[in-house]
Amino acid sequence: MKIIGTGSAMPKRTVTNAQLSEFLDTSDEWIVPRTGIKSRQVITDETLQALAIDAAQKALTDSGLKAEEIDFIICSNVANNYVTPALSAFIQEALGCKCPFVDLNGACAGALYALDIADAYISTGRAERILIVAAEEVTKFCDWTQRETSVLFGDGAAAMVVAKDDSPCYTILTGDSRYKEVITYRRKLEKTPFEQEGQAVDQPMIMKGRDVFRMAVLCSQRDIKDLLQKANMKAEDIKFFMLHQANKRIIDAIQEYLGLPEERFPSIIDHTGNCSSASILLLLDEVARSGKLAKGDKLMMSAFGAGFVTAAAIITWGHE
Ligand code: COA
Repeated sequence: MKIIGTGSAMPKRTVTNAQLSEFLDTSDEWIVPRTGIKSRQVITDETLQALAIDAAQKALTDSGLKAEEIDFIICSNVANNYVTPALSAFIQEALGCKCPFVDLNGACAGALYALDIADAYISTGRAERILIVAAEEVTKFCDWTQRETSVLFGDGAAAMVVAKDDSPCYTILTGDSRYKEVITYRRKLEKTPFEQEGQAVDQPMIMKGRDVFRMAVLCSQRDIKDLLQKANMKAEDIKFFMLHQANKRIIDAIQEYLGLPEERFPSIIDHTGNCSSASILLLLDEVARSGKLAKGDKLMMSAFGAGFVTAAAIITWGHE
């Protein structure tokens, strides 16, 4: 399986750290050394549906395929204003695809869960070309009076088209629900006459930052090492390590562990913040646009997120 097209779409509003410090007890001096984040794009009057469609359309155009040639649309999304139908329904309609579609919630690792499913479909002959979209509006999960979480996140949508090819795709997925409380975000649904008082809870995102940091570094290092072994490859065989963009210090720790030069670990977090599952596909699209990828390059992707879930993949860049 190989990647044959990418695309992305960002909200137009840029919010700098200095702008956050106008209403939060925080500063650029605190945020940059601890996270690497200088600014993020934040949804204002856009809809996530529109961003997801824009990113998907660009990836489809980039792939050179027609809408009817897509066999499946898998969209990674933690939450958006529509509980149902899925974001992927809007994408199918706007692009004019005729295939089935589904959304999944694999937290910040969702795009790699989608990639794993795509590989299962393609390698068993159930599909030949799959559109993967990751779209997130994480800024809407945060309590904007809480500096601990709100400075970390941004919004965005990105997509890639993967297609059947001789190059194998390798993936690892893990889940450890003992740590499901390290990141939580709870929403009330509609009230019914039957539920007990106090049963439903509205709780903006809460995160145990230090626990997440430690687990992210350890799990990503483990996944990357295990996946290289599974693929019988060396770190030198990988052109770029595209890691979840949650914190530059997490990326740096993984890079130092692997003992590889920083330029093999491209990063966009300085201008995007953490866009949850959209992060890795946003990074992929930005690196692709910069012209640094050549057909046949092997890419390692690795992500972690609420659950606690992790995922890693080695995939071939197949664009001309
Ligand atoms: N601005 C200023 N001060 C802040 C702040 C902010 N935005 N956020 C927290 N602080 C303060 C805390 O209140 C604390 O103050 P205290 O010492 O007076 O109690 C101090 O800074 C240290 O807080 P701490 O949480 O220990 O900082 P940290 O060095 O662990 O960094 C994170 C916090 C969140 C940046 C870091 O833990 C992290 O990035 N974790 C991973 C998060 C992540 O990746 N989440 C996404 C998963 S998909």
